[in-house]
Amino acid sequence: MIRLTRPSIDDAELAELARVLASGQLVQGPAVAAFESALAEALRVPPSTVVACSTGTTALQLALAALSVGPGDDVVLPDFVFPSVASAVIYTGATPVVCDVDPDSFNVTLETVSAVMTKRTRAVIAVHQFGVPCDVQSLSGGLTCPVIEDAACALGTRGTTGYAGTQTGLGCFSFHPRKIITTGEGGAVVALDSGHSTRLRHLRQHGMRFGPSGVDFPEVGYAARMSELHAAVGLAQMRKLDAIVAGRARAAEAYRARLASVTAIRTTPWTWHPDRVYQGLVVLLDPALDRARVIAGLRERGVESTIGTYAIHTQAGFRSVVRASPSGLRGSRYAADHSLTLPLRPDMTDDDIDQVCVALRHVIDHHGASV
Ligand SMILES: Cc1ncc(COP(=O)(O)O)c(C=O)c1O
Repeated sequence: MIRLTRPSIDDAELAELARVLASGQLVQGPAVAAFESALAEALRVPPSTVVACSTGTTALQLALAALSVGPGDDVVLPDFVFPSVASAVIYTGATPVVCDVDPDSFNVTLETVSAVMTKRTRAVIAVHQFGVPCDVQSLSGGLTCPVIEDAACALGTRGTTGYAGTQTGLGCFSFHPRKIITTGEGGAVVALDSGHSTRLRHLRQHGMRFGPSGVDFPEVGYAARMSELHAAVGLAQMRKLDAIVAGRARAAEAYRARLASVTAIRTTPWTWHPDRVYQGLVVLLDPALDRARVIAGLRERGVESTIGTYAIHTQAGFRSVVRASPSGLRGSRYAADHSLTLPLRPDMTDDDIDQVCVALRHVIDHHGASV
């Protein structure tokens, strides 16, 4: 089976893990600080601005806390995104307001965000979906509220004024195994304001503040620390970041030539954008095809695939708690119904990619028959 993805783990991660285990210090030690520094160096930001935490979702919670978002506030986010982005807003007591996306880029635009802005809007979460750069410059320039960059899938994506996650003052990352690099579970906030980053270091650890006369708790925080074990894996991964990003781009390029001849698969200039990273290779299927049958047919031929992601407003647990764009969510609905994620790993061979594309062509050509 050609799996959707597989983290690039080898002896380097095992050696870092062994070092941490042997040290006996499993939390609040040097590995987290070293991981934060490595991330800062890669993103070209000062080390003090990077705050590692337990997941991408807690990174969003911390970023929202930095802006003191709470009950009575609205926070705008894309409808076409992993639903935990809305969960992070819900945990603050604020209302998530979902807006449409451009189905070509899978990202929000100034127009789709503006359609839902009200006096209550306290922040916008702009997602660089699947690694495709979202134009956060136009959002920051055209809106009066802060923009949080969700770069969960976009470590290494280049924006107009810096790397994704560093352009608006607050950026979030995830290190779940399906992301660019992994720590197992993990996340980080890049908070360029030193007041924010200092506060978030307290908040990730129950609100604890370490001062000359001991520890105090000036506010209620979260259980959102990254452990030394997770950071150890992340440190080894960061040393491979350039190779991982290049390997993913090479695999995408190999797909590009082969997919050009697969009718019924639509890609756009964003699919092949030179500034993006490839968290996944997400394409659009001809709406005439039954996607579930295509996914099942691929599985029968040894290829794992899945949907792009979800339209939050269609999910039972979120329907009654999110507010939806009054101008509609057609782009999101289209992307959610017709997107398809193909396998992508940095070490994929051309033979693997041939196998995926041959299977895809077969399943599409025999769609009418039993696949
Ligand atoms: C855009 C985006 N933001 C946030 C998250 C949450 O990250 P985590 O799973 O590390 O909590 C995800 C996870 O898939 C995501 O895709």
